[in-house]
Amino acid sequence: MSHLKAAITGVHGYVPDYILTNEELSTMVDTSDEWITLRTGIKERRILKGEGQGTSSMGIRAVQGLLEKTGTRPEDVDLLLCATVTPDYVFPATANLIAHACGMGNAPSFDLGAACSGFLYALTTGAQFIESGKYKKVIVVGADKMSAIIDYTDRATCILFGDGAGAVLLEPAQDGYGILDTVLYADGSGAQHLYQKAGGSKYPPTLETIANREHFARQEGQAVYKFAVVRMADVSAEIMQRNHLTSSDVAWLVPHQANKRIILATAERMGLSMDKVMVNIQRYGNTTAATIPLCLWDYESQLQKGDNLVLSAFGGGFTWGSAYVKWAY
Ligand code: UT7
Repeated sequence: MSHLKAAITGVHGYVPDYILTNEELSTMVDTSDEWITLRTGIKERRILKGEGQGTSSMGIRAVQGLLEKTGTRPEDVDLLLCATVTPDYVFPATANLIAHACGMGNAPSFDLGAACSGFLYALTTGAQFIESGKYKKVIVVGADKMSAIIDYTDRATCILFGDGAGAVLLEPAQDGYGILDTVLYADGSGAQHLYQKAGGSKYPPTLETIANREHFARQEGQAVYKFAVVRMADVSAEIMQRNHLTSSDVAWLVPHQANKRIILATAERMGLSMDKVMVNIQRYGNTTAATIPLCLWDYESQLQKGDNLVLSAFGGGFTWGSAYVKWAY
């Protein structure tokens, strides 16, 4: 077995300037700051405004910042992956647009869709290219402009989501650091509980699909919650067991930010106190594929070389998974 691992050697993020607060949402739908805070932990989220601004606009800024801070020349990047459910276009891939705008020449790039677990799926995929020895510099982006598919008359969903992008650089590590293990799962029977009905090949856009508001994300919150709270805790416990980690070995849980209550339940199952859990849901809400890299970006200055991180997510599909990372810088 190869000892070559992929290490995260840099992280950067971007969130738009516009802040949509619980107070403003309370003027748009029948909700309150109290309800949203109590049920989700969210206080505000960022919204990308402006004509012609898409997911790539945020991804480009995150990747440009990442290249700059890691001193990486764009022409040296071997591969760029973008996890998103809100691509700029059905095709070409948002990854192609980001790579081009960042000057990556003819390096391959592609999108990957696994909803809120998208970043973990893309991280796992990117890591394989490093571990195989094929590539030396891989950028993994998680980016979503959720405001493009949110129905701001539906109080069950519009309070949850926000826009943002995060990106990490992966490079080879042979010294025991890096992405040491990953576990991924999916169960397509969950599709009915969290999805966007129209706009794909099954229900292409028609006047009727638009009138029926079928181009927006729909979620049966309670049904998703029941799966999310169990699966995310299970998979986090599983990756600890597989790698013989006790709670005192884990420096940080880096959870997908869908609901503070799901994060608390996962931490409890892992035996972690909340000071070891990255939480920024109060500021950004659920940014889908961007939550985990945005957490890493926010907490980067508190991370120390050798810290054991457990990254965990659950999302549409259903998809879920976990990664064990030994922080490399
Ligand atoms: O990231 C992808 C995966 N997604 C998730 O993990 C999300 C999982 N689900 C959840 O986080 C929660 O189910 C929600 C936050 C979406 C909803 O919280 P909940 O505690 O499950 O609330 P609920 O849907 O059971 O609704 C409770 C009540 C209902 O009223 P009645 O029937 O008790 O009178 C809702 O109509 O709250 C009402 N309600 C609201 N009230 C004020 C629903 N949305 C709102 C709202 N403001 N925004």
